[in-house]
Amino acid sequence: MQQILRGIAFAVVALAVLTGPAQAADMDKAVAARQAVMKLRSFYLGQIGAMAKAKMPYDAKKAQGAANSLLALESLDSSAMWVPGSGADKLGDKTRAKPEIWSTYPDVATKAKALKSALANLVKVAGTGLDGLRSGIGDVGKSCGGCHKPFRTDKK
Ligand code: HEC
Repeated sequence: MQQILRGIAFAVVALAVLTGPAQAADMDKAVAARQAVMKLRSFYLGQIGAMAKAKMPYDAKKAQGAANSLLALESLDSSAMWVPGSGADKLGDKTRAKPEIWSTYPDVATKAKALKSALANLVKVAGTGLDGLRSGIGDVGKSCGGCHKPFRTDKK
């Protein structure tokens, strides 16, 4: 009997050892994936911002393409990237996600919705001319910041 119990105990410990590192690696992948989505957002918004500031010549096709791409990112299912427990309180320097993302849920979803509706508008105006593009970019930038302020830690 004792041998069986010892066997079970060993199996449980072995399982914990086996699944432990795998889970940590999965967590790292999830964090990298959500940061990659953010980088893409930043890339496309950067193009639109450069046109709005006349640092890049306005090009209706490019502007429309960037706006469409930003909205397309909204159709990704990113839920698996935001694993509970993958905030900066647990993972340290690997992430700037504040634990409040999970503890105040669904507040973060409201912020995400605000970005989506700002992008739906940007898609309508971005290709209509520089004035149109400029009229749409402000709300997009505000919704990025509107989520970063409460839910992203300051840069170290
Ligand atoms: C719903 C909340 C939310 C919205 C909306 C949002 N972000 Fe983020 N963003 C975050 C969080 C949280 C992080 C930190 C992620 C991490 O480090 O794990 C982040 C990180 C970033 C980063 C750093 C990525 C990296 O390489 O570590 C950039 C750049 C960024 N966001 C750009 C944007 C832009 C541009 C927009 C708007 C078009 C935007 N974000 C909209 C929450 C949001």
